Amino acid sequence: MVKVAFFDAKDYDEKSFEKYNGKNGIKIKFFETKLTLDTVSLTKGFDAVCIFVNDEVGPEVIDRLCELGIKLIALRCAGYNNVDVKYAYKKIRVVRVPAYSPYAVAEHAMALLLTSIRRIHKSYIRTRDFNFSLSGLTGFEIHGKTVGVVGTGKIGRIFIDICKGFGAKIIAYDKYPADIEGVEYVDLDTLWERSDIISFHCPLTEENHHMVSEESIKKMKKGVVIINTSRGGLIDSEALLNGLKDRKIGAACLDVYEEEASFFFKDFSGHIVNDDILARLISLPNVIISSHQAFLTDEALENIANTTIDNINKCFAGEKCDNEVCYTC
Ligand code: NAI
Repeated sequence: MVKVAFFDAKDYDEKSFEKYNGKNGIKIKFFETKLTLDTVSLTKGFDAVCIFVNDEVGPEVIDRLCELGIKLIALRCAGYNNVDVKYAYKKIRVVRVPAYSPYAVAEHAMALLLTSIRRIHKSYIRTRDFNFSLSGLTGFEIHGKTVGVVGTGKIGRIFIDICKGFGAKIIAYDKYPADIEGVEYVDLDTLWERSDIISFHCPLTEENHHMVSEESIKKMKKGVVIINTSRGGLIDSEALLNGLKDRKIGAACLDVYEEEASFFFKDFSGHIVNDDILARLISLPNVIISSHQAFLTDEALENIANTTIDNINKCFAGEKCDNEVCYTC
């Protein structure tokens, strides 16, 4: 049996993985805690770890995992910016789930956008209180607007198709531009200058950390709507907050936040949140935050479990795994 220590386990994870537990040579133990330097010793006696977006796997954790005999880090997500894959190279294998449901994320991005620009979040609260006033609920249409998409991979392309359905004009920036019908690739400055709506669908890397900054916000259109369902670190949150306060940014739709690891996936409703930027962002009427839930559909959870189990099986059978993360490839 391959023994898997499963970190940051939530009820929906246990539900989707439980059916594989104890079968096909895999035994899973679920831990609620995240994998960090403080918790790495829990992996003693296991063969593999299964982690998610906010587990912290830097060099020290990788060294400890190796000492404890862990042979595989199985990410049950697409992004792997929380694992030092360069350091892990030739020490421990790293696999991921490159696509569990790009539709889930792209549809969530559009859900956030429509909620924001048609003020659904406001009207929902009002009508529950029998307040049927329309004052302050004027929205705007996506039809005819220019949507700037940063990252035209799996999720970005689906988001583009959805926006095309609304009659938007699409411009895009990608480090590796493709040939997509109806999409005009532009450089980043042009994207900032021309977009009415900007949506991020690229991975977080060292080079694009804080690509939304004080400087780039200056180049954007007044009233621009920013959607981030990718990774929080793409946006300098303080610069975003200032842009919103200055009325330069019209609205922000965020499924990710750069300091999310301290808060997201937990209930802080009875606590004082010690992050003034997050608290201020949440207080603004034109900011919608969901807590990294874009992936959370039945279909995606099923795909995540299937692919993760398959990745683990392949690695321990000594087979080639197409979902292996290799920084040299
Ligand atoms: P993908 O790998 O199919 O596409 C990423 C695209 O970004 C590629 O076309 C690539 O060339 C481009 N890219 C790479 N570096 C870039 C840069 N510096 N600037 C601009 N473009 C760049 O990935 P996929 O599946 O579309 O996912 C995109 C991102 O969405 C993931 O990296 C992850 O961070 C995020 N994500 C968020 C989820 C959520 O629940 N909020 C769930 C799944 C993914």
